[in-house]
Amino acid sequence: MRWFFLILAIAVVATAVALGPRGEKFSDPPFELFNDMDRQYKQRPQKSSNIFDDGKGARKPVAGTVPIGFKFPHAGNEKDLASDLDFSAGDDFYNTGLFGDFYGKGYPKNLTIDEEFLARGKERYQITCTPCHGESGNGQGVVSKYWAIPPSANLIDPRVKAMPEGQLYWTITHGKGLMGPYNGVVSVRDRWAIVAYVRALQAAAE
Ligand code: HEC
Repeated sequence: MRWFFLILAIAVVATAVALGPRGEKFSDPPFELFNDMDRQYKQRPQKSSNIFDDGKGARKPVAGTVPIGFKFPHAGNEKDLASDLDFSAGDDFYNTGLFGDFYGKGYPKNLTIDEEFLARGKERYQITCTPCHGESGNGQGVVSKYWAIPPSANLIDPRVKAMPEGQLYWTITHGKGLMGPYNGVVSVRDRWAIVAYVRALQAAAE
């Protein structure tokens, strides 16, 4: 037992000596057991880069980039932009999809379901939902090729067809099972536009 503690003490001291020194200056790079990602390929601020012809490392934003929260200067555009950025806090049907404890049927009165609204819904659906639910809504998006358990719901199924609009809106807002909530990335108005487009997909599948 005595030897054990002696050897243990020597081992501890040896380890501390080998790994311990800190704060001193060395000319050689330190021995790295775990390099903690000290060295990685990246572009440091204000440094040049040979990737681009102009040799600049820092790039300008792509033409047309709009920072979040930026207000377009054009007069008359403010209303659209406000609805683009509205992610809801209200407790009415428009914001929740609910009437009291029940999913609401139909669309909120302040919305006009026209061609333009559907086009917006189509665009947003294709960006947000297609990977899982597929272009046609059949649940066979690209994700199903790699990650099939459980499969994304078939949105053109009679089961989903029978759901009130408010329930579809609620599902986009809060997610369901493995489907995450989209209330942080899809604005309230766009969620309703997607609902309208899902209805169009269902009608087209008949
Ligand atoms: C990351 C993959 C994924 C994305 C993206 C996704 N969903 Fe889903 N969705 C699922 C899965 C998985 C289910 C099945 C959840 C369950 O039944 O547990 C589902 C279920 C649903 C359902 C049926 C809910 C129910 O009550 O059975 C609807 C409606 C739906 N999604 C709509 C959408 C819409 C609209 C979008 C785009 C805004 C979207 N989903 C985006 C994976 C996704």
